[in-house]
Amino acid sequence: MTFETVHVGLVGREYDVLIGPDLIATAGARIADMLTVKKVAIVTDENVAGLHLATLQASLDAAGVAHSALTLPAGESTKRWPEFTKTVEWLLEQKVERNGLVIALGGGVIGDLVGFAASVLRRGVRFVQIPTSLLAQVDSSVGGKTGINTDQGKNLVGAFHQPSLVLADTSILSTLTERDFLAGYGEVVKYGLLGDAAFFDWLEVNAPKMAAGDMDARVYAVKRSVEMKAEIVMRDETEQGDRALLNLGHTFCHALEKATGYSDRLLHGEGVAIGCALAFELSSRMGLCSQEDPSRVRAHLREMGMKTDVTDIPGDLPDAEALLTLMGQDKKVLDGKLRFILARGIGQAFVTSDVPREAVLSVLNDALRG
Ligand code: GLY
Repeated sequence: MTFETVHVGLVGREYDVLIGPDLIATAGARIADMLTVKKVAIVTDENVAGLHLATLQASLDAAGVAHSALTLPAGESTKRWPEFTKTVEWLLEQKVERNGLVIALGGGVIGDLVGFAASVLRRGVRFVQIPTSLLAQVDSSVGGKTGINTDQGKNLVGAFHQPSLVLADTSILSTLTERDFLAGYGEVVKYGLLGDAAFFDWLEVNAPKMAAGDMDARVYAVKRSVEMKAEIVMRDETEQGDRALLNLGHTFCHALEKATGYSDRLLHGEGVAIGCALAFELSSRMGLCSQEDPSRVRAHLREMGMKTDVTDIPGDLPDAEALLTLMGQDKKVLDGKLRFILARGIGQAFVTSDVPREAVLSVLNDALRG
């Protein structure tokens, strides 16, 4: 099977996202074409290294590209200053030059951290994203948001630094646990809900076979998600407006993630799925969309075996007032006003700060009661 290409046409910073099976095994020749001096530095994590590093290294060897690799611990706690410093210093030790190339092989944590390191190294070197989770393939590897977490919050330090190539190898999705796959699927379904009703219709029919391993369905779902992300990023690279649409479900999600301590109780993509269902519920109660829309969203998430409702999160949660306070700490608060992505129907999301506090509280209260 061949691969699909989505072009991100940002003038002066344009790149291709390739989507299809076996792209890691064939990465070497593509990367060799980007180099004058045939060497690269790879940064990955311990889990991904065990699964995919040898395949990438063999492909670079076959293409005559010298390589070295830094393997960091897996997990969100790697996306912080100490590992960032370690990565930048290691890249300097590898003598990555101004026209050199860094490869980020991993999920969202590695992509964000390595992209940020590449953005500051010698005032900016090129990097290739090889995303190894579904979430990273459809969201974080595309669009150039890079950064780390600090004690003050998540992703508060970073840079917009676009990759030079993204290789979304869909064969590696079968190495994910079912839970990680479905969490990533939360971001896929978000694209249909925010801007493409026909894609949501397609997902209702085809997502079960995509989850079961159908490669054509996987390639199409990743491609359509990346196309939508690319269109939005090209309109609004630095999130002055429309890029905020990509945060459908995220205002609720961030409050739930904070309430669960960013723990294993709730993965980010699971929170996005629950947040999308809540955003549609809120939209329906505000008379913006029909009552059937939130039911249809929830029915699809349920059919996929995903966390759908707040009550699916194990353990206790704070009350509605406390969750609203946590939402107020979201970095997407503008001038003290909560910003929501609401919808006039499936595929018709828009950004607004005009949401009555009582409406949000009533949705949260009912959600917590189950
Ligand atoms: N993940 C949201 C964005 O890239 O803007």
